[in-house]
Amino acid sequence: MKIAFFDAKPYDKPSFEKYGKKAGVCFKYFETKLTEDTVYLAKGFDGVCIFVNDVANSKVIDALYEMGIKVIALRCAGFNNVDVKHALSKIHVVRVPAYSPYAVAEHAVAMLLTIVRRIHKAYIRTRDFNFSLANMTGFDLHGKTVGVIGTGRIGQVFIDICKGFGMNVLAFDKFPNQGLIASGKVKYVELNELFENSDIISLHCPLTEETHHVIDKTALEKCKKGVVIINTSRGALVDSEALLTAIKERKVGGACLDVYEEESDFFFEDLSGHIMDDDVLARLISMPNVIVTSHQAFLTEEALENIAETTVNNICSIIAEGKCPNEVCFKGGEIGDCKTGKCF
Ligand code: NAI
Repeated sequence: MKIAFFDAKPYDKPSFEKYGKKAGVCFKYFETKLTEDTVYLAKGFDGVCIFVNDVANSKVIDALYEMGIKVIALRCAGFNNVDVKHALSKIHVVRVPAYSPYAVAEHAVAMLLTIVRRIHKAYIRTRDFNFSLANMTGFDLHGKTVGVIGTGRIGQVFIDICKGFGMNVLAFDKFPNQGLIASGKVKYVELNELFENSDIISLHCPLTEETHHVIDKTALEKCKKGVVIINTSRGALVDSEALLTAIKERKVGGACLDVYEEESDFFFEDLSGHIMDDDVLARLISMPNVIVTSHQAFLTEEALENIAETTVNNICSIIAEGKCPNEVCFKGGEIGDCKTGKCF
């Protein structure tokens, strides 16, 4: 089996080579993203493997179909960059629904500790032999209240870590988890109550029409002064301009952002020699109480192994059997998960 691997990065290759060799899947790595202009590169392959910023719109899918491509294998959970409806009955679309909730939850906590204990500032100061502690006062996490929006796989790991710190947890989820309620670890509340009572708010829900800008001007106005916002989910959960304003007004005390609304133009690339065109991102990065990482939360050895193993298995299932539990389906007007039958 030959698979064209788009948007390849050096850290992708070791795990994909390992699992590909075992299963007889041969990857050809292209650094370029899949787009209407680069789709011709897939000619002669059985399938394509793509990531979050590759584009599989209707034109790309038609071109792939004409070339005889059988599978679009997403090496991530989200598939908003694929026109799944258009792919129906032409090309199978498979994904990796979960690879390491620990990777993302631990990154969220790493960012939180960094911002509240000013580790990012301390690192720079001591490298310059500046041992002053001026403006370095943080606060204890113990006894603070964290509001968690989205209590799925990642949210639950994040909650467990917060409980280890002795924090109180308020939670909001469209579908509250009965097991979590029974465990007594969290108190589910409405969003307004979560905003009003949380010292820290961490987002672990998917991006949907309902959750788009869940943190906006109105939400921020309801928050406690000094609230810390953590977003390791999807950029558009937060209205970046409203966040910037609230930081300038000293309402928000800290922001930890692994994702950004317009990240596809910038993230994953070295733009250090370029002029930053996005003024909001540039201003956020300039703030002493903001940390931005470049959609890095998933990037652990364990997650990369799981992503590669699942992707290779997905490709083999489709090529050998024409079906796969991790296929994204489109049935009865709804996009859903083949395995669970659940709609997104
Ligand atoms: P999950 O599907 O296990 O959990 C999501 C939770 O959000 C579920 O409990 C669901 O009921 C809840 N939810 C759905 N709609 C909601 C709404 N309108 N309001 C409140 N809650 C709602 O997903 P998982 O694995 O925990 O991932 C969460 C998010 O993390 C993903 O959607 C993705 O955006 C993000 N992610 C980020 C990564 C990174 O590298 N930064 C890597 C992987 C995931």
